[in-house]
Amino acid sequence: MKLSDAMTAAINDQIKAELDSAYIYLAMSAYFEDCGLSGMAHWMRKQYKEEVEHAEKFIDYLYERGARFIVPETAKPKESYENALDVFKTAYAHEQYVTSRIYKLVDMATAEKDYATLSMLKWYVDEQVEEEANAGGIVEKLEFLGGDKHGIYAVDRELSSR
Ligand SMILES: [Fe+2]
Ligand SMILES: [Fe+2]
Repeated sequence: MKLSDAMTAAINDQIKAELDSAYIYLAMSAYFEDCGLSGMAHWMRKQYKEEVEHAEKFIDYLYERGARFIVPETAKPKESYENALDVFKTAYAHEQYVTSRIYKLVDMATAEKDYATLSMLKWYVDEQVEEEANAGGIVEKLEFLGGDKHGIYAVDRELSSR
């Protein structure tokens, strides 16, 4: 069965969203490097690579289904933040946004009775649970610390082992 034109366009659009995510995290990593928080910078760089993998997984799916992938233009990410909490709050909100996008794809595949795409999307549904839990967990920790520098330093060291 051929992938529908609408689904091909929607997946291409999601690939752009994943690559935009990658760039957002790469910029967050650069921000942390600039602050001297190398553990958080490392965590964000890993996150950047994961998002590229998410994009590639969608790209491979398009190829598998004989559909065309068009390399998208990516959005310029935000460069500056208030502090570490602001960065992770932004990351958490962004992951919630990506989850809502994945759910829309699930709705679309369901409406189209595109069971192959539905099955492929299950991986992303599960991955988003993890993504939100990871970012949300760090937000909770940083909120608890409330700007305590020793605490933030400890979290930075913890995140260096990702
Ligand atoms: Fe992603
Ligand atoms: Fe993500």
